[in-house]
Amino acid sequence: METAEPSIPTIREFQPVDGPAVREFWLASGFRLHGDDDAGLARFAAHNPGLFLVVEAGGAIVGSAMGAWDGRRGWLYHVAVAAEHRRSGIGREMVARIEAGLRTTGCPRVNVIVGPENDVARAFWIDAGYEVTGYHQQAKDLA
Ligand SMILES: CC(C)(COP(=O)(O)OP(=O)(O)OC[C@H]1O[C@@H](n2cnc3c(N)ncnc32)[C@H](O)[C@@H]1OP(=O)(O)O)[C@@H](O)C(=O)NCCC(=O)NCCS
Repeated sequence: METAEPSIPTIREFQPVDGPAVREFWLASGFRLHGDDDAGLARFAAHNPGLFLVVEAGGAIVGSAMGAWDGRRGWLYHVAVAAEHRRSGIGREMVARIEAGLRTTGCPRVNVIVGPENDVARAFWIDAGYEVTGYHQQAKDLA
């Protein structure tokens, strides 16, 4: 008899083999893919050891959180949990793990960009202790 993949969500570090499933999850979550091919994701993970997390359940990727340390500030990107796994503390746990990792690098402050109409995300980040700064984000595509 075949053993089914465990469906209990597990947080773990991103592995290069996760690239296609992570992209599929991000597209389903409404994120755009900028330079997120396998090479780009592997580069990000190598630059930020231990800070790129995914959530796996039933053999699928159902969550992600990317922490980055630029040498002055920490950044959080693509924190998301699939709808059927929300509100069970997975997002909070991923952020806590990344914050712990950033602290060990000496990072004094961490930023996250939140869409102006994303009330759920705003509530999530306030719960996690992130103040609203009021700054606007501006960006430019280089490729
Ligand atoms: C934001 C998101 C990552 C939260 O993930 P999650 O695993 O459901 O969050 P948690 O269960 O860890 O919630 C932690 C706390 O955040 C707050 N929170 C989370 N979802 C909330 C909601 N829908 N409404 C109000 N508060 C909410 C609560 O204070 C919650 O604590 P509680 O459940 O004990 O009350 C998830 O809703 C998501 O993937 N949204 C779509 C993608 C997105 O917008 N990402 C953020 C980009 S900046």
